[in-house]
Amino acid sequence: MKNKINALLKEVEGFSAESLEQLETFRIKFLGKKGLVPALFADFKTVVPEERREMGQLINTLKQSVQNKIVSLKDTLDQQSDLQDSGFDLSLPALSPMGTRHPLSIVRNEIIDIFSRIGFSVSEGPEIEDDFHNFTALNFPEDHPARDMQDTFFIEKDPDLALRTHTSSVQVRVMEKTQPPIRSISPGRVFRNEAISARAHCIFHQVEGLYVDENVSFTDLKQTLFYFARELFGENTKIRFRPSYFPFTEPSAEMDVSCNICGGKGCNICKYTGWVEILGCGMVDPNVLEACHIDNKKYTGFAFGMGIERITMLKYQVNDLRLFFENDLRFLKQFEAAR
Ligand code: PHE
Repeated sequence: MKNKINALLKEVEGFSAESLEQLETFRIKFLGKKGLVPALFADFKTVVPEERREMGQLINTLKQSVQNKIVSLKDTLDQQSDLQDSGFDLSLPALSPMGTRHPLSIVRNEIIDIFSRIGFSVSEGPEIEDDFHNFTALNFPEDHPARDMQDTFFIEKDPDLALRTHTSSVQVRVMEKTQPPIRSISPGRVFRNEAISARAHCIFHQVEGLYVDENVSFTDLKQTLFYFARELFGENTKIRFRPSYFPFTEPSAEMDVSCNICGGKGCNICKYTGWVEILGCGMVDPNVLEACHIDNKKYTGFAFGMGIERITMLKYQVNDLRLFFENDLRFLKQFEAAR
């Protein structure tokens, strides 16, 4: 009996478990109702009186060592499973800095910054917009071909709703709520039903601006956008305006900046013209002011709108717009050093 117990003590000492199931099998083998330890206690009755004391102590030692083994293995197994559940190795040093800004966010923030220095504040609005705010209030007559200028995603269940095609809709909401003076810019996501290519996407980002007050003239528009272009592209940047058409502005123009890559000498970015188009603008049509309950005899205003993707492509010489939406780390990492 003594030899048997000593052999079992050795077995317990050398035992280790990889799972709680294995540990439970071990417990049942030794301490279960029909286990080895109860069996030894049963055999104890047959032990001769001279040996009883020694045998009793040995069996108790065995029982104790089984119990100690179970407690310590259970501790270790619990700790391991906690760590696995969290998925973290808490002993690793932190990676720093964590993440970087997306290039579109960097440029959007820079644009907001430039306009806020001259008193523009940021306004935001819904991406799902009704016909009035996206079109009608902006002087797009119903069934007018101008609506085709912006291929629209309509919401099937409600023909009055669509994904906004520009953030001019936000400016309508600002004018409805506020009387002049108004100086507001609206950054945001817009949607157009266009084929995806290196130069176009069905989702893109805009910043549109609006300035309404007494005596606002085209000179104010020109000077504001000149300041903006120089802040964004550098102090030697030149601007020029070409006549254009938008239903909500009259007169309307498109603004070009001198190519910041070749400095106006001509390169493949500016298609050897020395100029790149960056935004649409114009004097707010009096009909728009009226639709938003602003006195169009007393007030005038200018508005402008630009695509953030296009500006980012120019600023960082990105030649494919799709890169902004793919979240390829090899692309995003290149902006780590930017603000
Ligand atoms: N809303 C126009 C667009 O999305 C841009 C624009 C805004 C043009 C304001 C003129 C004035 O294309």
